[in-house]
Amino acid sequence: MKIVIGCDHVGFLLKEPIKEFLIKKGYDVIDKGTYNTERVDYPTYGNLVAKAIIKNEADLGLLFCGTGVGISISANRNKGIRAVVCSEPYSAKLSREHNNSNILSLGSRVVGLDLAKLIVETWLEASFEGGRHQKRVNQIDEKL
Ligand code: RB5
Repeated sequence: MKIVIGCDHVGFLLKEPIKEFLIKKGYDVIDKGTYNTERVDYPTYGNLVAKAIIKNEADLGLLFCGTGVGISISANRNKGIRAVVCSEPYSAKLSREHNNSNILSLGSRVVGLDLAKLIVETWLEASFEGGRHQKRVNQIDEKL
């Protein structure tokens, strides 16, 4: 599975160890930056990751900023993107099963590394249930 990742300068602190975690687990990772802690603007990276998913360069995406909020809002402005901010695994799992989320966004100022790993792992291992949920997911984009 191909995972595209991106972050701002605050999210960088969480993106790096999670990237290593993903590679060790055998995922194919595309890193869209940023690549250091020099100040940048989160919409740039939210959009880069969103566009990579829309173009099918990757299956799923991970985003990181201070809270996970700004960068997920930016990603969600792209049609076909369903980015979720999660700070616990239950919502992460359900966001895949019911909402077919295609980007998980994490806050480096909100979750510690061990919790972030658990959230990421849970999210990646869950899958969309389809059925009654498909119609609702379709409606998200129909209304744009
Ligand atoms: C950057 O200071 C911070 O605003 C950003 O990382 C993020 O938390 C925005 O939502």
